[in-house]
Amino acid sequence: MHPYFSLQGRTALVTGGTRGIGKMIAKAFLEAGATVYVCARDGEACAQTAAELSAFGTCHGMAANLASEEGVQTLAAQLAEKIDCLDILVNNAGTTWGAPLESYPAKGWEKVMQLNVTSVFTCIQQLLPLLRKAGNAASPARVINIGSVAGITSHGEDAYAYGPSKAALHQLSRMLARELVGQHINVNVIAPGRFPSKMTQFIAQDEAAMAEDCALIPMQRWGREDEMAALAISLASTAGAFMTGTIIPIDGGFHL
Ligand SMILES: NC(=O)c1ccc[n+]([C@@H]2O[C@H](COP(=O)([O-])OP(=O)(O)OC[C@H]3O[C@@H](n4cnc5c(N)ncnc54)[C@H](OP(=O)(O)O)[C@@H]3O)[C@@H](O)[C@H]2O)c1
Repeated sequence: MHPYFSLQGRTALVTGGTRGIGKMIAKAFLEAGATVYVCARDGEACAQTAAELSAFGTCHGMAANLASEEGVQTLAAQLAEKIDCLDILVNNAGTTWGAPLESYPAKGWEKVMQLNVTSVFTCIQQLLPLLRKAGNAASPARVINIGSVAGITSHGEDAYAYGPSKAALHQLSRMLARELVGQHINVNVIAPGRFPSKMTQFIAQDEAAMAEDCALIPMQRWGREDEMAALAISLASTAGAFMTGTIIPIDGGFHL
């Protein structure tokens, strides 16, 4: 690993790190030398993921439900008992809800907004003391929020709350980037297009749906794990030290 991209000695938390994009990023950080905490609601999945990823470095699993302020507060308190500072926070846990326009339920809207926007705000708020201790002028602490091209383009299928939630997350990230830059905390957004995960498996498992989906993407394919890994490492390492408030699509050109 070139020193530009080394995360040796850094500590990271990846929310929703037990599968999909979160797991890709957790593994990448471990390979780059960081100690990584992953959290999700399913405690067994946290333990299994930590055991599996321990092949690449020091990985810990923590069960946490980020769907409430109390859940986030508990996670932050538990983390503060284990570590003195947090170099990298990846707010990746997210959800979606699809339904026809006429019957789209308010509870679906609220669930998506709560996890994709409110819980990210609370995570940053509750983990600020640990982030502040990690950052300095030469190497700021990093907050990496996982947004989506759905928050940039007008394609939304029937997931009415999802795109608006990600657009809100992008804007929150820009506001916090401005506010926290003086405290040596950088805030950036990775805005993925399609990547394989549980959230997108309903398309991947349907050959016709997959072909239709790929036809909309200028590069005609979905993103790969190594591509997500490399971008996340870049933002967490030297390249990301002079970047804040950016929203980076990684989508094969879909946002165009
Ligand atoms: N895959 C894509 O193509 C794509 C594209 C654009 C953006 N994204 C974004 O990327 C992020 C990851 O998505 P993914 O596709 O990898 O999804 P995924 O496979 O469904 O993984 C979601 C992760 O979040 C955790 N999670 C869900 N609800 C939670 C809660 N209340 N508290 C704590 N953890 C929770 C899940 O574990 P538990 O169920 O055990 O809690 C899981 O680890 C999301 O923010 C998503 O919006 C994905």
